[in-house]
Parts: sequence; C-alpha cells; structure tokens
Amino acid sequence: FGKNVHYEKSVSSTQELAHRIASEGGEEGTIIVAEEQVAGKGRLGRQWYSPIGTGIWMSMILKPKIPPQQAPQLTLLTAVAVIRGIHAITGLNCDIKWPNDILLNGKKLVGILTEMQADLDQIQSVIIGIGINVNQISFPEEIKETATSLRIEKGKEINRASIIKSILENFEELYEIYLKEGFLPIKIMWEAHAITIGKRITARTMGGSFQGFAQGITDEGILLLEDDLGDTHKI
Ligand code: BTN
Repeated sequence: FGKNVHYEKSVSSTQELAHRIASEGGEEGTIIVAEEQVAGKGRLGRQWYSPIGTGIWMSMILKPKIPPQQAPQLTLLTAVAVIRGIHAITGLNCDIKWPNDILLNGKKLVGILTEMQADLDQIQSVIIGIGINVNQISFPEEIKETATSLRIEKGKEINRASIIKSILENFEELYEIYLKEGFLPIKIMWEAHAITIGKRITARTMGGSFQGFAQGITDEGILLLEDDLGDTHKI
C-alpha cells in the first residue's frame, strides 16, 4: 500500500478519482490523496468538509478476492488501522462508534466511507475513503459542536505525511492477517476500541433509523440491535 500514490492539489472527491483509476486497471494498494476536496462525500449522501491543506483526504483501492457481502468488514478493519496509526504518531487514544466514526474525547475526528463495485458474486474494486481532521483550528457552524481535530486535541500541529505512512503500515499488516485468518482477529481488535457495544443507540442507515440496545457485532461485521420488545435485528 502506498507504492502508487496519486497526489492532487484539488479534486471534487478522492473517491470519484479512485473509482476511475480502479476501473482503468489501477492496482490494489493505490492511494489517492488530495490537499482539498470541493465535493467531499460523507456517508448517507452527506457532505464532508475538506478544506485545503489541513486534513487527510485519501482513498485506497482494494481488489480483494472475497465475497461482496463481506466488504463491510473492510470498513471495520480500516477503523482499527486508523486508530493504531494515529496512536503510533500522536499517542492519542480514539474510540470507534459503529460502524465507521472515529471519535476523540466524544467528538468526530475521522470518517470512513467504503464503496464497492461488484458483479453478482465478484468484487471489481473496493474504494475506502478516509477523512481525518488533522490541523483545523476551527469548524463551520453546523459541525462546530461535534467535530474535532488532532491539532485541537494535541495542542500542536501534526505532520500529515507521518500519519498517512503509519496508517498504511498498520492497514497492510491487518489486511494480511485478514486475508490469511479471516475476520475474527480483526473483530476482536475492533471490539476493544468500540464504545457502541453494550449501549442504547440510534443506528442510522439507508433504510431508516433504528433504536435499541447494541448487543455486539457478528463475524460478518453486522451490528446486532435489540429492540424494546426484545427482538434482535441485524443492521
Ligand atoms: C463519513 O460520513 O463519516 C465518511 C466521511 C468520509 C470522508 C472521506 S475524505 C476522503 C474520501 N473522499 C470523499 O469524498 N470522502 C472520503
């Protein structure tokens, strides 16, 4: 990972560029990084605030030989790699909020967006987008209360390249374990950082929002949510 790096000053979204490069034969491990995104994408059709020169806006191309329905596991794997990478450089301990938010002191530091191109039973490519608030000192009104950056939490500027390098090293290590041993070891690491499990939560998905008690995740990386009647739902 990171042998092929496409570095751009300004893009609409590194996700879109990564999809294009992947479909034109871009190899697994190719990284797309930009200083700025003018149309950064978040989950559930939201925007992702990606101002110039302050954060890490990056997408990775994967071409794993796994069934398409297992692709969500890669989001959880990425969350673990990002947490480890950030910890190695800054000493900061982040938490995971299911499925893909990384929080620091209760505020959002990182967003992960996984998108897949697949035929019925075969993955063409998985594009994993990672957005990290690194050196912002302020945020727009709408996210002021809920977002934070490494600089705000650490009180000093952080080198973005060293964070990227550390995340890629950790990702590569975990991805190898995953392809060899399956999801279980990753699941155990993920659970060690997850604050969602064992709490009453609201899960927002494309299909609507569900409230309940988060019991845990399955080996497929699916959240088990118990509703007020005691029925368990897979989210
Ligand atoms: C979320 O909603 O939490 C996911 C945010 C993902 C943002 C990253 S930034 C790099 C990549 N390119 C995008 O347009 N989005 C992802």
